[in-house]
Amino acid sequence: MTYLLALDQGTSSSRSIVFNERGDIVALAQREFTQIFPQPGWVEHDPLEIWQTQLDTAREALARAGLTAADIRAIGITNQRETTVVWNRRTGQPIYNAIVWQDRRSEPECAALREAGREDEIQRRTGLRIDAYFSGTKLQWLMQNVPDARALAERGELAFGTIDSWLIWQLTADRRHLTDVSNASRTLLFNVHENRWDETLLQWLNIDPSLLPEVLPSGADFGTTAPDLLGGEIPICGVAGDQQSALFGQACFRSGMAKNTYGTGCFMLMHTGNIFNVSSNGLVTTSAAQTGPTAEYAFEGSVFVAGAVVQWLRDGLKAFPTSSDIEALARSVPDSGGVMVVPAFTGLGAPYWNPDARGTITGLTRGSTIAHIARAALDSIAFQSAALLQAMSRDAVQAGGEPLQELRVDGGACVNDLLMQFQADLLGIPVLRPTVIETTALGAAYLAGLTAGVYGSKDELSDLWRVERTFEPQCDRSQAEELMARWEHAVRQACTA
Ligand code: G3P
Repeated sequence: MTYLLALDQGTSSSRSIVFNERGDIVALAQREFTQIFPQPGWVEHDPLEIWQTQLDTAREALARAGLTAADIRAIGITNQRETTVVWNRRTGQPIYNAIVWQDRRSEPECAALREAGREDEIQRRTGLRIDAYFSGTKLQWLMQNVPDARALAERGELAFGTIDSWLIWQLTADRRHLTDVSNASRTLLFNVHENRWDETLLQWLNIDPSLLPEVLPSGADFGTTAPDLLGGEIPICGVAGDQQSALFGQACFRSGMAKNTYGTGCFMLMHTGNIFNVSSNGLVTTSAAQTGPTAEYAFEGSVFVAGAVVQWLRDGLKAFPTSSDIEALARSVPDSGGVMVVPAFTGLGAPYWNPDARGTITGLTRGSTIAHIARAALDSIAFQSAALLQAMSRDAVQAGGEPLQELRVDGGACVNDLLMQFQADLLGIPVLRPTVIETTALGAAYLAGLTAGVYGSKDELSDLWRVERTFEPQCDRSQAEELMARWEHAVRQACTA
């Protein structure tokens, strides 16, 4: 049997998973790490803690699987995207904490770019909107605010990277400074048409090119692990940002295939083949994981608060002790009784893009109970995802394609049958849950396996994809449309809250 090791460095935990060549999970290890909130709107991680927890889980997963480095054919890395690290090339020490994708501190830098009229050109080159979410203005902030950073950068002494680059640097004995196209495409500095850093954007953001990693396809030679770390040298053959990795792990390789990952937030991506399209419906365009030099793209929409609404009910409202209790509570009523929860705690992302919207509950009556609110909170995850999918379908049709035919799902909350059924009802298309829902890690393992020759082609990976359960839509379209209209009404109220 051949084994692959996926390092999955996420926002709240570092995880490592050993897969066998059939894509089955052999062993998994996970460690949470510290979330640092220095001021409202700021979110940081300690890069050294990220590295240590990632290394610890890799060692633990190998031990649990009863395997050694020699048994692992290749490593794939997947990671929280956009999160920005700058370190000293000589000492290896970070010059500041990692600025996390959720961090909003670089909003003034974004406003300056908007005022300078750069919006359209940046979207044309990168596929992205100007937003503090992406790495570019975080890096700009570091250069402006960390003492001596700019002078050190001009002398070529600093390295910038997203988390993948930071881990590759740590893992390789010869300190490789690399990233892949899917991570690079989230920086606001990368020309996704030509797969290279864009000189004009570097000038606009005043970023010294010596900071930047070399960009490789997602399936490529990213170096070999230093022998002392995992007890032997293992080639790193796959790297992708977590959402593009999940698209790959779901075997969504062709234009029109889409997946939705239900985590703290929701991330929906639809492959658009080799065609770069700009969304007219509030989505961003991003590079999909690429196994060769040819550019591939996806539309992406993100819901900022999805599973997090369940945590809020659990911790904020003390509605139940553990997150999985929500399904029983929500099932105890036939529907939400007209209650709508819009969990716009940090504004609304795609397709609404309203940073000032705030969480809102509408439709309360004297008969409303905590069960109705729980049901409405669960529904809100499906409503937000349905709004994204409608936007995607509109974009697909405008680009001359077809509306979406089915949705593949993964991530922690996709185990909730009630949520998945309601999702299918709203969308009017089948929702497909695969046997392996760890598709983010699986995508990285597949990328590594494809590059290392474990698999001959993507077709082989498509054949490995198996559905565990299909949720067929059960309510009629007019009822679904009425529900969506009520949701949009509640969103309008959240936008004026
Ligand atoms: O764009 C942010 C995304 O990559 C974070 O994903 O799963 O770590 O919350 P996750």
